[in-house]
Amino acid sequence: MLYDVQIPIVSYVINQAKQMENALRSLNYTQGMISTIIITVADIFSFIIPFLIGAILMFNGQIGAGTLVMIVQLSNDFINPVTMIFDQINQIRSTKPMWDKVEKALNFESINSENKAVRTFDELDVNDIAYEQNDKLVFNNVNFSIKPGEKVLLMAPSGWGKTTLLRLLVGQITPSKGQIKINQEVLNGNWAKAHDYFGYINQKPFIFDRDLEFNITLGKTVTKQQLDEVLAEAGLTELVKEKGLNYAVGQNGCNLSGGQIQRIEIARALLAKRPILLADEATSALDTKLSLQIHQTLLNNPKVAVIEVAHKISDQEKAMFDQIIELGK
Ligand SMILES: Nc1ncnc2c1ncn2[C@@H]1O[C@H](COP(=O)(O)OP(=O)(O)O)[C@@H](O)[C@H]1O
Ligand SMILES: [Mg+2]
Repeated sequence: MLYDVQIPIVSYVINQAKQMENALRSLNYTQGMISTIIITVADIFSFIIPFLIGAILMFNGQIGAGTLVMIVQLSNDFINPVTMIFDQINQIRSTKPMWDKVEKALNFESINSENKAVRTFDELDVNDIAYEQNDKLVFNNVNFSIKPGEKVLLMAPSGWGKTTLLRLLVGQITPSKGQIKINQEVLNGNWAKAHDYFGYINQKPFIFDRDLEFNITLGKTVTKQQLDEVLAEAGLTELVKEKGLNYAVGQNGCNLSGGQIQRIEIARALLAKRPILLADEATSALDTKLSLQIHQTLLNNPKVAVIEVAHKISDQEKAMFDQIIELGK
Protein backbone atom coordinates (compact mmCIF):
# COMPACT_ATOMS: atom_id res chain seq x y z
CA MET A 1 0.00 0.00 0.00
CA LEU A 2 1.24 3.45 -0.90
CA TYR A 3 1.43 4.81 2.65
CA ASP A 4 2.98 1.66 4.14
CA VAL A 5 0.15 1.27 6.60
CA GLN A 6 -0.49 -2.37 5.70
CA ILE A 7 -0.05 -3.60 9.23
CA PRO A 8 -2.56 -1.36 11.05
CA ILE A 9 -5.07 -1.81 8.24
CA VAL A 10 -4.56 -5.54 7.98
CA SER A 11 -4.90 -5.77 11.76
CA TYR A 12 -8.17 -3.91 11.60
CA VAL A 13 -9.55 -6.05 8.80
CA ILE A 14 -8.37 -9.25 10.46
CA ASN A 15 -9.89 -8.18 13.76
CA GLN A 16 -13.21 -7.70 12.06
CA ALA A 17 -12.93 -11.05 10.30
CA LYS A 18 -11.92 -12.71 13.52
CA GLN A 19 -14.90 -11.37 15.42
CA MET A 20 -17.17 -12.62 12.68
CA GLU A 21 -15.38 -15.96 12.51
CA ASN A 22 -15.55 -16.37 16.29
CA ALA A 23 -19.25 -15.70 16.28
CA LEU A 24 -19.71 -18.20 13.44
CA ARG A 25 -17.46 -20.72 15.09
CA SER A 26 -19.30 -20.68 18.40
CA LEU A 27 -22.56 -20.87 16.51
CA ASN A 28 -21.38 -23.85 14.49
CA TYR A 29 -19.93 -25.45 17.58
CA THR A 30 -23.13 -25.06 19.54
CA GLN A 31 -25.16 -26.30 16.62
CA GLY A 32 -22.84 -29.26 16.15
CA MET A 33 -22.92 -30.19 19.81
CA ILE A 34 -26.68 -29.96 20.01
CA SER A 35 -27.28 -32.02 16.91
CA THR A 36 -24.75 -34.61 18.09
CA ILE A 37 -26.49 -34.91 21.44
CA ILE A 38 -29.86 -35.19 19.75
CA ILE A 39 -28.63 -37.91 17.38
CA THR A 40 -26.97 -39.78 20.24
CA VAL A 41 -30.08 -39.67 22.38
CA ALA A 42 -32.19 -40.73 19.43
CA ASP A 43 -29.83 -43.63 18.82
CA ILE A 44 -29.99 -44.73 22.41
CA PHE A 45 -33.73 -44.98 22.09
CA SER A 46 -33.86 -46.38 18.59
CA PHE A 47 -30.88 -48.75 18.76
CA ILE A 48 -29.38 -49.54 22.17
CA ILE A 49 -32.68 -50.23 23.87
CA PRO A 50 -33.94 -52.46 20.98
CA PHE A 51 -30.51 -54.18 20.98
CA LEU A 52 -30.68 -54.97 24.69
CA ILE A 53 -34.23 -56.16 24.40
CA GLY A 54 -33.27 -58.21 21.29
CA ALA A 55 -30.36 -59.80 23.13
CA ILE A 56 -32.57 -60.77 26.03
CA LEU A 57 -35.14 -62.14 23.58
CA MET A 58 -32.45 -64.21 21.80
CA PHE A 59 -31.17 -65.63 25.04
CA ASN A 60 -34.70 -66.58 25.82
CA GLY A 61 -34.86 -68.24 22.36
CA GLN A 62 -37.59 -65.94 21.16
CA ILE A 63 -35.58 -64.51 18.17
CA GLY A 64 -32.80 -66.01 16.00
CA ALA A 65 -29.11 -64.98 15.76
CA GLY A 66 -29.76 -63.53 12.27
CA THR A 67 -32.00 -60.92 13.71
CA LEU A 68 -29.33 -59.95 16.22
CA VAL A 69 -26.68 -59.65 13.42
CA MET A 70 -29.01 -57.32 11.62
CA ILE A 71 -29.30 -55.29 14.76
CA VAL A 72 -25.48 -55.22 15.14
CA GLN A 73 -25.08 -53.96 11.55
CA LEU A 74 -27.43 -51.18 12.38
CA SER A 75 -25.01 -50.17 15.12
CA ASN A 76 -23.19 -48.09 12.44
CA ASP A 77 -25.96 -45.66 13.06
CA PHE A 78 -24.71 -45.38 16.58
CA ILE A 79 -21.04 -45.04 15.59
CA ASN A 80 -21.75 -42.13 13.20
CA PRO A 81 -22.63 -39.58 15.87
CA VAL A 82 -19.54 -40.59 17.84
CA THR A 83 -17.28 -40.01 14.83
CA MET A 84 -19.11 -36.74 14.27
CA ILE A 85 -18.02 -35.54 17.69
CA PHE A 86 -14.39 -36.26 16.80
CA ASP A 87 -14.84 -34.56 13.42
CA GLN A 88 -16.08 -31.47 15.16
CA ILE A 89 -13.10 -31.41 17.48
CA ASN A 90 -10.76 -31.83 14.51
CA GLN A 91 -12.38 -28.98 12.65
CA ILE A 92 -11.93 -26.67 15.61
CA ARG A 93 -8.29 -27.72 15.96
CA SER A 94 -7.57 -27.24 12.25
CA THR A 95 -8.29 -23.49 12.39
CA LYS A 96 -5.76 -23.07 15.18
CA PRO A 97 -2.61 -22.55 13.04
CA MET A 98 -4.51 -19.86 11.13
CA TRP A 99 -5.43 -18.04 14.32
CA ASP A 100 -1.86 -18.30 15.52
CA LYS A 101 -0.77 -16.38 12.42
CA VAL A 102 -3.51 -13.85 12.98
CA GLU A 103 -2.32 -13.31 16.56
CA LYS A 104 1.16 -12.66 15.22
CA ALA A 105 -0.11 -10.04 12.80
CA LEU A 106 -2.14 -8.38 15.53
CA ASN A 107 0.84 -8.17 17.87
CA PHE A 108 2.88 -6.24 15.31
CA GLU A 109 3.94 -2.81 16.55
CA SER A 110 2.21 -0.07 14.69
CA ILE A 111 4.62 1.88 12.50
CA ASN A 112 5.62 5.25 13.85
CA SER A 113 5.67 7.65 10.94
CA GLU A 114 8.50 9.57 12.61
CA ASN A 115 10.80 6.59 12.17
CA LYS A 116 10.57 6.72 8.42
CA ALA A 117 12.91 9.01 6.52
CA VAL A 118 11.07 11.58 4.45
CA ARG A 119 12.27 11.68 0.86
CA THR A 120 13.63 14.97 -0.35
CA PHE A 121 12.89 15.70 -3.92
CA ASP A 122 14.56 18.20 -6.26
CA GLU A 123 13.04 17.27 -9.59
CA LEU A 124 10.81 14.71 -11.25
CA ASP A 125 11.50 14.35 -14.94
CA VAL A 126 9.32 12.32 -17.27
CA ASN A 127 11.26 11.84 -20.48
CA ASP A 128 9.38 10.62 -23.56
CA ILE A 129 7.61 7.69 -21.97
CA ALA A 130 5.27 5.27 -23.70
CA TYR A 131 3.19 2.46 -22.31
CA GLU A 132 2.03 -0.68 -24.06
CA GLN A 133 -0.41 -3.20 -22.68
CA ASN A 134 -0.83 -6.57 -24.40
CA ASP A 135 1.07 -5.24 -27.43
CA LYS A 136 -1.36 -2.34 -27.68
CA LEU A 137 -0.07 1.20 -27.31
CA VAL A 138 -1.94 3.00 -24.52
CA PHE A 139 -0.01 6.28 -24.98
CA ASN A 140 3.36 7.63 -26.05
CA ASN A 141 5.37 10.89 -26.18
CA VAL A 142 4.66 11.93 -22.60
CA ASN A 143 7.08 14.60 -21.41
CA PHE A 144 6.98 16.89 -18.42
CA SER A 145 8.95 17.81 -15.35
CA ILE A 146 8.04 19.19 -11.97
CA LYS A 147 9.92 20.93 -9.16
CA PRO A 148 9.10 21.10 -5.44
CA GLY A 149 5.85 22.92 -4.70
CA GLU A 150 4.91 23.20 -8.39
CA LYS A 151 1.36 22.44 -9.58
CA VAL A 152 0.98 20.61 -12.89
CA LEU A 153 -2.27 19.77 -14.64
CA LEU A 154 -2.31 16.95 -17.21
CA MET A 155 -5.41 16.98 -19.37
CA ALA A 156 -6.65 13.98 -21.37
CA PRO A 157 -10.02 12.41 -22.14
CA SER A 158 -11.49 9.40 -20.30
CA GLY A 159 -9.80 6.13 -21.21
CA TRP A 160 -6.70 7.90 -22.52
CA GLY A 161 -4.50 6.33 -19.82
CA LYS A 162 -4.30 8.99 -17.09
CA THR A 163 -4.60 6.52 -14.23
CA THR A 164 -2.09 4.29 -16.00
CA LEU A 165 0.35 7.21 -16.20
CA LEU A 166 0.10 7.76 -12.43
CA ARG A 167 0.72 4.06 -11.82
CA LEU A 168 3.87 4.41 -13.92
CA LEU A 169 5.05 7.35 -11.81
CA VAL A 170 4.76 5.45 -8.52
CA GLY A 171 6.64 2.50 -10.03
CA GLN A 172 3.73 0.08 -9.93
CA ILE A 173 4.19 -0.62 -13.65
CA THR A 174 7.12 -0.06 -16.03
CA PRO A 175 7.09 2.16 -19.14
CA SER A 176 7.84 0.40 -22.40
CA LYS A 177 9.93 3.37 -23.50
CA GLY A 178 11.56 6.44 -21.96
CA GLN A 179 12.60 7.31 -18.41
CA ILE A 180 10.98 8.47 -15.22
CA LYS A 181 13.70 10.21 -13.25
CA ILE A 182 13.59 11.53 -9.72
CA ASN A 183 16.64 13.57 -8.66
CA GLN A 184 18.36 12.44 -11.89
CA GLU A 185 17.96 8.76 -11.02
CA VAL A 186 15.96 6.52 -13.38
CA LEU A 187 13.21 4.87 -11.33
CA ASN A 188 11.25 3.05 -14.06
CA GLY A 189 9.13 0.38 -12.39
CA ASN A 190 10.98 0.81 -9.10
CA TRP A 191 8.12 0.79 -6.61
CA ALA A 192 10.45 0.39 -3.61
CA LYS A 193 12.25 3.65 -4.36
CA ALA A 194 9.55 5.65 -6.15
CA HIS A 195 6.39 5.25 -4.09
CA ASP A 196 7.72 7.10 -1.05
CA TYR A 197 7.72 10.33 -3.03
CA PHE A 198 4.02 10.27 -3.76
CA GLY A 199 0.71 10.79 -2.07
CA TYR A 200 -2.35 9.72 -4.02
CA ILE A 201 -5.73 11.39 -4.09
CA ASN A 202 -8.39 9.22 -5.62
CA GLN A 203 -11.70 10.19 -7.10
CA LYS A 204 -13.40 7.69 -4.80
CA PRO A 205 -11.30 7.36 -1.64
CA PHE A 206 -11.66 4.22 0.44
CA ILE A 207 -13.35 5.01 3.73
CA PHE A 208 -13.31 2.65 6.71
CA ASP A 209 -16.44 2.23 8.81
CA ARG A 210 -14.64 3.67 11.84
CA ASP A 211 -14.00 7.09 13.31
CA LEU A 212 -12.53 10.19 11.70
CA GLU A 213 -9.17 9.76 13.38
CA PHE A 214 -8.59 6.24 12.05
CA ASN A 215 -9.65 7.28 8.58
CA ILE A 216 -7.08 10.08 8.59
CA THR A 217 -4.16 8.35 10.31
CA LEU A 218 -4.93 4.88 8.86
CA GLY A 219 -3.83 3.48 12.20
CA LYS A 220 -0.43 5.16 12.31
CA THR A 221 0.77 6.74 15.53
CA VAL A 222 0.96 10.50 15.13
CA THR A 223 1.43 13.35 17.58
CA LYS A 224 -1.42 15.73 18.36
CA GLN A 225 0.59 18.54 16.79
CA GLN A 226 1.13 16.63 13.53
CA LEU A 227 -2.54 15.78 13.36
CA ASP A 228 -3.71 19.35 14.07
CA GLU A 229 -1.39 20.72 11.39
CA VAL A 230 -2.67 18.28 8.78
CA LEU A 231 -6.31 18.88 9.75
CA ALA A 232 -5.78 22.61 9.20
CA GLU A 233 -4.02 22.09 5.85
CA ALA A 234 -6.71 19.74 4.60
CA GLY A 235 -9.52 22.02 5.78
CA LEU A 236 -10.89 19.58 8.32
CA THR A 237 -10.47 21.63 11.51
CA GLU A 238 -14.09 22.74 11.54
CA LEU A 239 -15.50 19.24 11.04
CA VAL A 240 -13.33 17.88 13.85
CA LYS A 241 -14.29 20.76 16.14
CA GLU A 242 -17.96 20.10 15.47
CA LYS A 243 -18.07 16.28 15.50
CA GLY A 244 -14.89 15.22 17.30
CA LEU A 245 -12.09 12.91 16.18
CA ASN A 246 -14.06 9.87 17.29
CA TYR A 247 -17.00 10.72 15.04
CA ALA A 248 -18.25 7.53 13.36
CA VAL A 249 -18.12 8.18 9.63
CA GLY A 250 -20.43 5.27 8.79
CA GLN A 251 -20.28 2.65 6.08
CA ASN A 252 -18.44 4.05 3.03
CA GLY A 253 -18.41 7.38 4.86
CA CYS A 254 -22.20 7.79 4.65
CA ASN A 255 -22.11 10.35 7.48
CA LEU A 256 -19.73 12.56 5.48
CA SER A 257 -20.14 14.76 2.41
CA GLY A 258 -18.17 14.10 -0.78
CA GLY A 259 -16.03 17.15 -0.05
CA GLN A 260 -15.24 15.91 3.47
CA ILE A 261 -14.25 12.50 2.10
CA GLN A 262 -11.92 14.22 -0.36
CA ARG A 263 -10.41 16.28 2.48
CA ILE A 264 -9.77 13.08 4.45
CA GLU A 265 -7.94 11.72 1.41
CA ILE A 266 -5.86 14.90 1.23
CA ALA A 267 -5.12 14.72 4.98
CA ARG A 268 -3.87 11.13 4.56
CA ALA A 269 -1.50 12.24 1.82
CA LEU A 270 -0.22 15.23 3.84
CA LEU A 271 0.26 13.10 6.94
CA ALA A 272 2.41 10.70 4.95
CA LYS A 273 4.63 13.77 4.19
CA ARG A 274 5.06 12.85 0.56
CA PRO A 275 6.50 15.76 -1.46
CA ILE A 276 4.38 15.11 -4.58
CA LEU A 277 0.63 14.61 -4.51
CA LEU A 278 -0.95 12.80 -7.42
CA ALA A 279 -4.58 13.75 -7.88
CA ASP A 280 -6.53 11.33 -10.07
CA GLU A 281 -9.63 13.26 -11.15
CA ALA A 282 -9.83 14.08 -7.47
CA THR A 283 -12.84 16.37 -7.70
CA SER A 284 -14.77 15.03 -10.67
CA ALA A 285 -17.42 13.54 -8.37
CA LEU A 286 -18.02 16.89 -6.65
CA ASP A 287 -20.13 19.87 -7.68
CA THR A 288 -18.45 22.99 -9.09
CA LYS A 289 -18.33 24.89 -5.82
CA LEU A 290 -16.89 22.00 -3.78
CA SER A 291 -14.44 21.19 -6.56
CA LEU A 292 -13.13 24.75 -6.43
CA GLN A 293 -12.81 24.65 -2.64
CA ILE A 294 -10.87 21.38 -2.77
CA HIS A 295 -8.58 22.81 -5.45
CA GLN A 296 -7.94 25.86 -3.31
CA THR A 297 -6.93 23.59 -0.44
CA LEU A 298 -4.72 21.46 -2.63
CA LEU A 299 -3.13 24.09 -4.85
CA ASN A 300 -2.42 26.79 -2.29
CA ASN A 301 -0.25 24.52 -0.16
CA PRO A 302 3.38 25.50 -0.94
CA LYS A 303 4.78 22.44 0.85
CA VAL A 304 3.68 19.96 -1.78
CA ALA A 305 3.98 19.59 -5.52
CA VAL A 306 0.77 18.46 -7.23
CA ILE A 307 0.32 16.48 -10.44
CA GLU A 308 -3.36 16.37 -11.26
CA VAL A 309 -4.81 14.37 -14.13
CA ALA A 310 -8.26 15.38 -15.29
CA HIS A 311 -10.50 15.31 -18.33
CA LYS A 312 -12.69 18.21 -17.28
CA ILE A 313 -11.89 21.23 -15.12
CA SER A 314 -13.13 24.84 -14.92
CA ASP A 315 -11.12 27.81 -16.26
CA GLN A 316 -10.94 29.26 -12.76
CA GLU A 317 -9.34 26.06 -11.52
CA LYS A 318 -7.02 25.84 -14.52
CA ALA A 319 -5.71 29.30 -13.67
CA MET A 320 -4.42 27.99 -10.33
CA PHE A 321 -1.84 25.68 -11.94
CA ASP A 322 1.75 26.55 -12.91
CA GLN A 323 1.73 24.26 -15.97
CA ILE A 324 -1.07 22.79 -18.05
CA ILE A 325 -0.19 19.97 -20.41
CA GLU A 326 -2.69 18.70 -22.98
CA LEU A 327 -1.95 15.00 -23.41
CA GLY A 328 -4.98 13.79 -25.27
CA LYS A 329 -4.02 14.76 -28.79
N1 LIG B 1 -6.50 -3.50 -15.63
C1 LIG B 1 -6.65 -3.23 -16.93
N2 LIG B 1 -6.69 -4.24 -17.82
C2 LIG B 1 -6.84 -4.00 -19.15
N3 LIG B 1 -6.96 -2.78 -19.66
C3 LIG B 1 -6.93 -1.75 -18.82
C4 LIG B 1 -6.78 -1.90 -17.43
N4 LIG B 1 -6.79 -0.69 -16.86
C5 LIG B 1 -6.93 0.18 -17.85
N5 LIG B 1 -7.02 -0.44 -19.04
C6 LIG B 1 -7.15 0.19 -20.35
O1 LIG B 1 -6.08 1.11 -20.49
C7 LIG B 1 -6.53 2.32 -21.04
C8 LIG B 1 -6.26 3.46 -20.10
O2 LIG B 1 -6.99 3.31 -18.91
P1 LIG B 1 -6.93 4.38 -17.74
O3 LIG B 1 -5.50 4.64 -17.40
O4 LIG B 1 -7.80 3.91 -16.64
O5 LIG B 1 -7.55 5.66 -18.44
P2 LIG B 1 -8.07 7.01 -17.79
O6 LIG B 1 -7.62 7.05 -16.38
O7 LIG B 1 -7.48 8.09 -18.64
O8 LIG B 1 -9.56 7.01 -17.91
C9 LIG B 1 -8.02 2.14 -21.32
O9 LIG B 1 -8.16 1.85 -22.68
C10 LIG B 1 -8.43 0.97 -20.48
O10 LIG B 1 -9.45 0.25 -21.11
MG1 LIG C 1 -8.66 7.12 -14.63
